[in-house]
Amino acid sequence: MNSLPIGIFDSGMGGLTVMRALTHRLPRERFLYLGDMARLPYGTKSADTVRRYALQASQALTARGVKLLVIACNTASVSLDALQQALAPLPVIGVIEPGARAALEAAPQGPIAVIATEGTVKGGAYVRAIHGLSTAPVVQQACPLFVPMAEEGLTDGAIASAVAHRYLDPLMATMPRPRALVLGCTHFPVLQSVIAEAAGEGVTLVDSAATTAEAVARLLAERNLESAGSAQPHRFLVTDAPDRFARVGEIFLGETIDPGSVEQIDLQSLEPPAARVLQGG
Ligand code: DGL
Repeated sequence: MNSLPIGIFDSGMGGLTVMRALTHRLPRERFLYLGDMARLPYGTKSADTVRRYALQASQALTARGVKLLVIACNTASVSLDALQQALAPLPVIGVIEPGARAALEAAPQGPIAVIATEGTVKGGAYVRAIHGLSTAPVVQQACPLFVPMAEEGLTDGAIASAVAHRYLDPLMATMPRPRALVLGCTHFPVLQSVIAEAAGEGVTLVDSAATTAEAVARLLAERNLESAGSAQPHRFLVTDAPDRFARVGEIFLGETIDPGSVEQIDLQSLEPPAARVLQGG
């Protein structure tokens, strides 16, 4: 069991920013990453559709054998409870709770600004998670264009900067001015420099990757699931565009992705059993 990989899932390459923090924090672990590139973006889809996709992705990972699952997608965290129930006793961790804790560490009294996908903003998961721990005021802004920009590798320059200002100028003009800015989508850290420039001085950018990696490390230790081995090659599954994933994914992961380690799979064929599990049948 301890030698099994940790499964990580996102709609595309964004979750690689979480995998980056995980590989640094847990260098002895092996990772199996799944990017549902064929169906990205999740952020503009309904919660029901995202739940169905997330369950299919989780099934694909558990069928290959994983000892813990990280939902490295804020939007798909809408399915966290359902996945924890459906996959028990497999530990399943999301990124929202660790992100909320990191935001409160950065600005205990707030105000906290959250930028995320439309789905995450509409679902209000960050507002609930932060208000479960504190009364700090929270403001939100959907930034859907950041997702295709990140997947395109368009992370700096005039266009990226103009889009960042368009989203952030009204948000940062909120009074009192936000003290922490949560990158509430795992695609956003690759746009960190244009986001920081548009947000201006006096605000701390918060990325949930490092706090999520800490939470995973704690859980592995608690359950005696830590790997005793040494660094292992990681594997990647994608539902489309494996070559592009290997090429552009490097910006997110911070290291080269060997195209030979990326396998294309089909999640649509998992639809009937996934639907049954969701309905509890
Ligand atoms: N990376 C995902 C997140 O953290 C969403 C991107 C998408 O819209 O698919 O929310």
